[in-house]
Amino acid sequence: MATYPHLFRPLGIGRIEVKNRLFFPSHGTSLIEQGHAGPNLIAYHEARAAGGSGLIILEGSAMHSSFDYRSRYLSVADDDCIPGLRDLAVAVHRHGCKVFGQLFHAGRGLRASEDGSRPVAYAPSEVPDERYGIVPAPLPKRMVRDFVDSYGDAARRMNEAGLDGCEVLASMGYLIALFLNPAANLRTDRYGGSPGNRMRFLREIIRAMRAKTDPGFVIGIRISGDEMAPGGLEPDAVRAICRALDADGSIDFVNVIAGSVGTMEGWKHVFPPMAVPPGYVAPLAAGIKAVMTKPVLVAGRITQPQLAELIVAGGQADMVGVVRAQIADPEFVNKARSGRIDDIRACIGCNQACVGHRLAMYPVSCIQHPETGRERRFPHRKARAATARRVMVVGGGPAGMKAAAIAAERGHDVTLYERAGQLGGQVLLAQALPGRAEFGGLATNLARELDLAGAKVVRGRDVTAEAIRADGPDVVILATGALPRLPAIAAEGAHVVEAWSVIRGEANTGGSVVVADWRGDWIGLGVAEKLARAGCRVTLAVNAVAAGMYIQEIVRDTWVGELHKLGVAMVPYARLVGADRTTAYFQHTASGEPILIEGVDTLVLAQGHRRESTLADAMNGYPGKVMAIGDCVSPRTAEEAVFDGLKAAMEIGA
Ligand SMILES: Cc1cc2nc3c(=O)[nH]c(=O)nc-3n(C[C@H](O)[C@H](O)[C@H](O)COP(=O)(O)OP(=O)(O)OC[C@H]3O[C@@H](n4cnc5c(N)ncnc54)[C@H](O)[C@@H]3O)c2cc1C
Ligand SMILES: Cc1cc2nc3c(=O)[nH]c(=O)nc-3n(C[C@H](O)[C@H](O)[C@H](O)COP(=O)(O)O)c2cc1C
Ligand code: SF4
Repeated sequence: MATYPHLFRPLGIGRIEVKNRLFFPSHGTSLIEQGHAGPNLIAYHEARAAGGSGLIILEGSAMHSSFDYRSRYLSVADDDCIPGLRDLAVAVHRHGCKVFGQLFHAGRGLRASEDGSRPVAYAPSEVPDERYGIVPAPLPKRMVRDFVDSYGDAARRMNEAGLDGCEVLASMGYLIALFLNPAANLRTDRYGGSPGNRMRFLREIIRAMRAKTDPGFVIGIRISGDEMAPGGLEPDAVRAICRALDADGSIDFVNVIAGSVGTMEGWKHVFPPMAVPPGYVAPLAAGIKAVMTKPVLVAGRITQPQLAELIVAGGQADMVGVVRAQIADPEFVNKARSGRIDDIRACIGCNQACVGHRLAMYPVSCIQHPETGRERRFPHRKARAATARRVMVVGGGPAGMKAAAIAAERGHDVTLYERAGQLGGQVLLAQALPGRAEFGGLATNLARELDLAGAKVVRGRDVTAEAIRADGPDVVILATGALPRLPAIAAEGAHVVEAWSVIRGEANTGGSVVVADWRGDWIGLGVAEKLARAGCRVTLAVNAVAAGMYIQEIVRDTWVGELHKLGVAMVPYARLVGADRTTAYFQHTASGEPILIEGVDTLVLAQGHRRESTLADAMNGYPGKVMAIGDCVSPRTAEEAVFDGLKAAMEIGA
């Protein structure tokens, strides 16, 4: 019997049939070429289609001149988009996968620009957007008609390009959701007021799309089941909207997400980080499904096929969207179908290389799978190397593990040595921070990759240069990582401990603690939370503009909110200069003025890292090839460590 009997049944949506219940929902990729689908985007989606996905919904595409940023968003505003979309559809269809487009207008959440100047953001009414700090212009009535036509024309182009359907983004507090929302739509014309009036814009859009497309072209909407924000649309109102659209008979499906971009509380649900529980949108989808006759789709932190199966089997939704878990593992669906669950490289909800890259307008990738977004650069990475080599990898952190796994997969004879009893390196510390246990999945997944590739692993062995020379491998990969950086400060009489020892539970602290955070990353936030939860009075003094300044903003904002609840005081712009028995001394990084924090029992140093290069320095003159990767070259993050590992392994015997 199949492991997941409900996931691999076909589903009819409109007049088409999708081969299974797992889809790849819409997401901006920054892989487009001047607003169009080109080879990079096609390779990206074809990898997921080949990986078994039943349906791909392309990224939000712009269709109107008031929102036309071709460096950032796919454009379907003119017929020039058709050839690229056609090539994409052909590539995806080759694997039996269906493909829809998505039509998107940001409304008042519009900060994009091609030249640095601020554009005019439109919304139904002049209700400000808190997160973007924008007071929008009310959409003039004459423009409403223009908008409606532009949605219709865009759908026609998608249809002509051979896409199977199109989703209208009516979710997350963007333009159409603002029309639906009585707190954001204060209009007194026929587009505001009663629920029916507020739905008019969406209904006219759907009608225009129907009028300009073939009868078999699928049309549906994406909606937030709960915007989860003050002034956001709530579940009862959303259900009423879905019931009304279903009764109209005008849409073929509803795709349910949560959240809204207008506030920080709502925004985190658009890209839910690991702090948000898996599958939490499913009950909202179930509420909508109860009032619908048409299929209901859902997405939001569904990272395991077991959970997807439960959602479909339990009737909460008909189809399950998996974005980041397919960014992390393009073969997610095929592995689920063949029961290879342990082989799935599960997404750990870190939001780093996917959301983080996209929001900074870099191509999406994954810290665990750097091949994502680089499909054309690493097209045949599984192909065996021309010449097999004997490879020694020193260091079992993410860099060494990835290098060893890929090198072994490519046919080299690989042994990985780790001085600790356990693989993972600093990941073992990272996963010990409060709320960060899922980060440990990085090490678990890499350990599985090592196993599958057949790399040999020796734990508990401290490798020296002499031992390497005696063994004489063809290639040495040094991945010896980093250690805490301890700055020279005057701290006579002060009780000073270091962050790693606090995380390991090896350091005692007094009741009043200052965490001096130089890097503005996960470590300062995590140590502050750990100590606050242990009952300490904590001040987090950061040498940055804000705590968590250098990590992905949704992760940061969620964490800062947590610290606020715990009563942690946060002091930005703070350069550590010293400490004595009761006082920690800082200097304001912008003014140079002193900042004194008094009544301090313990100063915790979270001052970043320094490379562990002892072995690298001792390997000069080695006759074989020596490569150094990850933090031992320069202390950075797990993303660069894993990517370095991939690149080094690809270089061997190429
Ligand atoms: C608390 C904490 C939280 C973090 N959170 C994040 C996060 O959320 N996201 C992120 O991207 N990054 C995070 N990082 C940083 C990230 O973990 C590191 O950048 C990454 O682990 C570096 O990988 P690496 O393989 O280069 O080195 P390491 O992880 O340091 O691994 C090096 C390994 O080499 C071994 N070794 C060293 N010398 C020898 C030798 N001579 N013989 C045998 N073995 C040896 C060490 O024991 C160690 O296991 C965090 C770091 C810390 C400390
Ligand atoms: C990088 C990235 C970009 C996204 N862009 C869009 C978008 O253009 N339109 C949209 O409806 N949702 C977008 N989303 C939200 C996803 O469709 C999805 O709802 C969200 O990632 C939660 O699903 P997951 O937990 O399976 O990743 C984006 C998500 C990510 C990760
Ligand atoms: S970068 Fe992190 S959140 Fe994004 S897909 Fe990879 S594991 Fe998941």
